[in-house]
Amino acid sequence: MRLNIGVIKGDGIGPEIVTEAMKVLDKVGEVYGHACSYTQLLMGGASIDVHGIPLTDETIAAAKASDAVLMGSIGGDAKTSPWYQLEPSKRPEAGLLKIRKELNLFANLRPAVLYDELKGACPLKEEITDGGFDMMIMRELTGGLYFGERKTVEVDGVLTAYDELTYNENEVRRIAKRGFDIAMKRRKKVTSVDKANVLDSSRLWRKVVEEVATEYPEVTLEHMLVDNCAMQLVKDPRQFDVILTENMFGDILSDEASMVTGSIGMLASASLNETKFGLYEPSGGSAPDIAGKGIANPIATILSAAMMLRFSFDLDKEADAIENAVAQVLKDGYRTIDIMSEGKTQIGTSEMGDRICSYIK
Ligand code: NAD
Ligand code: IPM
Ligand code: MN
Repeated sequence: MRLNIGVIKGDGIGPEIVTEAMKVLDKVGEVYGHACSYTQLLMGGASIDVHGIPLTDETIAAAKASDAVLMGSIGGDAKTSPWYQLEPSKRPEAGLLKIRKELNLFANLRPAVLYDELKGACPLKEEITDGGFDMMIMRELTGGLYFGERKTVEVDGVLTAYDELTYNENEVRRIAKRGFDIAMKRRKKVTSVDKANVLDSSRLWRKVVEEVATEYPEVTLEHMLVDNCAMQLVKDPRQFDVILTENMFGDILSDEASMVTGSIGMLASASLNETKFGLYEPSGGSAPDIAGKGIANPIATILSAAMMLRFSFDLDKEADAIENAVAQVLKDGYRTIDIMSEGKTQIGTSEMGDRICSYIK
């Protein structure tokens, strides 16, 4: 099979971690007889440096023309990077939000799995991590606070900033359906997370999720307020199967969930629309503090590439091969610094990619 993959290497650690994911994809191609053809695309800071804007129409068109896009993270250090001298709509993050919107990538899947081998890197007590855990965070990605109107105005010398939070019922329905569909293939439980004790948008969210739930009688639905969810994630993450939530809550809760799995460097992500197309990227950022040092964890990006094979190309066997190789490298005791613990062997970004490749046969 020929896989036409758009590649956005991104900023900071982006190029380092994407290079490893491409290495792994090429190895899978070699073993299973597929040809990956990559089209390099610019977005974020790298695009600002060349074009003055974080996302060009050419990048959007080329992304649409590919079967899937593999992406590293974008952005820089807000204190030191010249990108943050630009007005907000021209900064790296604006490119990311625009590509999500342009490609209608409303469903963001972030699987938070505690590998047996990584229990030592998890900050929770042993009795909590004992059974391991495996949850899917379904984050709505093209609505809510991220896409409402915003402005800052000065009235009588006082600055006031507005960020509008809007959801319509169709936006809630489509992500809810996707969440229930995924729950049907898992442990059949959906925890819908909102702030319905305060927000109208959350009350609508809850109402629509309940309507959708009637179409999935086998799935158990529970509602949880977001502040409680933040607490429950640390208290007992084993209770979660699918967490279904809006854009901002999903952003925050997924970073929290990543840490209970050991590191943000382990958390993959897929951003999907109604077609087979998807954009696959690690959930974490460009980590400017460790960029260029060769120590970033490439596993989230490598697991995102596995999600790409599964969702965009229906190559389940190949995706399994990557996931098994990641489990094996951890079992054999190899760790990047973010997941390092006593008695394990610390290796760098590129060696981690090489070792994962070596298990794909
Ligand atoms: P971050 O996720 O980049 O970093 C937070 C911490 O996690 C840092 O200490 C970093 O070193 C560590 N970390 C992140 N990924 C890692 C990896 N793969 N291996 C090892 N350690 C890793 O968050 P931040 O510092 O708040 O943001 C930095 C920049 O990234 C900002 O410009 C932000 O806007 C951007 N960002 C981009 C994305 C994206 O492109 N999807 C996501 C989040 C943040
Ligand atoms: C993420 C990131 C982005 C988000 C930022 C960089 C705009 O944090 O993908 O989680 O908030 O969605
Ligand atoms: Mn985030």
